[in-house]
Amino acid sequence: MQYKTKILGTGKYLPKKVLTNFDIEKIVDTSDQWIFERTGIKERRISNPEGGELPSDMAAMASENALNAANLTPNDIDLIILSTVFPDYRLPCTTSVVMEKLGMTKQCPGIDISPACSGFVYGVHIAESFIRNGTYKNVLVIGTEKLSGGLNWKDRSTCILFGDGCGAAVLGRAPEGDKSEILSSVIQTDHTGGKFLHMKEGGAAIPFSKEILEEDDHYIKMAGRDLFKVATRTLSDNAKEAIEKANLKLSDIKWMVPHQANIRIIEKCGELLGIPSEKVIVNIQKYGNTSAATIPIAFHEAIEEGKIKRGDLVLFNAFGAGVTSGATVLRY
Ligand code: ACO
Repeated sequence: MQYKTKILGTGKYLPKKVLTNFDIEKIVDTSDQWIFERTGIKERRISNPEGGELPSDMAAMASENALNAANLTPNDIDLIILSTVFPDYRLPCTTSVVMEKLGMTKQCPGIDISPACSGFVYGVHIAESFIRNGTYKNVLVIGTEKLSGGLNWKDRSTCILFGDGCGAAVLGRAPEGDKSEILSSVIQTDHTGGKFLHMKEGGAAIPFSKEILEEDDHYIKMAGRDLFKVATRTLSDNAKEAIEKANLKLSDIKWMVPHQANIRIIEKCGELLGIPSEKVIVNIQKYGNTSAATIPIAFHEAIEEGKIKRGDLVLFNAFGAGVTSGATVLRY
């Protein structure tokens, strides 16, 4: 028996603290004009872990929204897939902490994944496979990130780009005759681009040391231009493959919800795919790059704003450190 999968409900949480480009002008040698023209970002949110904004706190709040929208309770969830590159702790896994914060009284499997900015699309792909084959009925997929904790606030080429936040979605079985359905998805990892975005210090290969901390060597390092080229090619290739798998044409897509890394990457991807800007959901100006959280946050807001409606054909399109990438085609 095979089951169709649909998105039952979505949610988001954004930290209260806003950090504008003008605030960053006071930290590094940059300007609001440079940041906005090169990236499309005006401001981003910075979470306060002491103020109840740990990755798990944000995940629990976004998940509660998504569960309410799906008309389900935490104990209705059969599997949680949570993507983060900045977990609360190394152990236990963040899904376990989120289960506690959601007040779950039953046990269910939780999988932490870390394909960086592609995490939500990876999560949807895994969830859909389990739902289709009947293993699980309701799956909670979360992208929660506190990338501000991994930024070197002396490095203007990275600290301007990222922000914190969380997006979540509950996926479940689509009843017979329901028009909503995940139609196809594609996930990939091109290891040759692994060197373009990394945070190697502090792991098993290069454990923390006094020298690493003194040299500020434990932060995110990025080759922005190289990543830019890989990103545009990968985003358009995956989108074409997922659309073909769904037996659709590019022109059938009503909304593209791309990973929000840089407005120029988003525009280039739209151009390569022939998807006009009015069909592209963009909120990078408000939040910057929140990694695995960008797509579920943008998708949720577009639904809230009444742009994306039930029955619309939607394309999710992501890339991230690895270089991981993925695309999902769904009828919302
Ligand atoms: N303010 C002012 N000047 C700056 C800044 C800044 N914040 N940052 C860099 N510059 C300067 C550089 O020093 C350079 O000066 P020079 O010409 O005198 O040497 C000049 O601006 C141009 O620098 P580039 O790096 O070539 O600028 P570019 O146009 O490529 O934009 C950017 C940089 C925004 C980082 C872009 O390359 C980009 O967005 N790349 C993709 C990054 C990305 O997507 N990252 C997320 C990956 S997903 C994940 O998994 C987390």
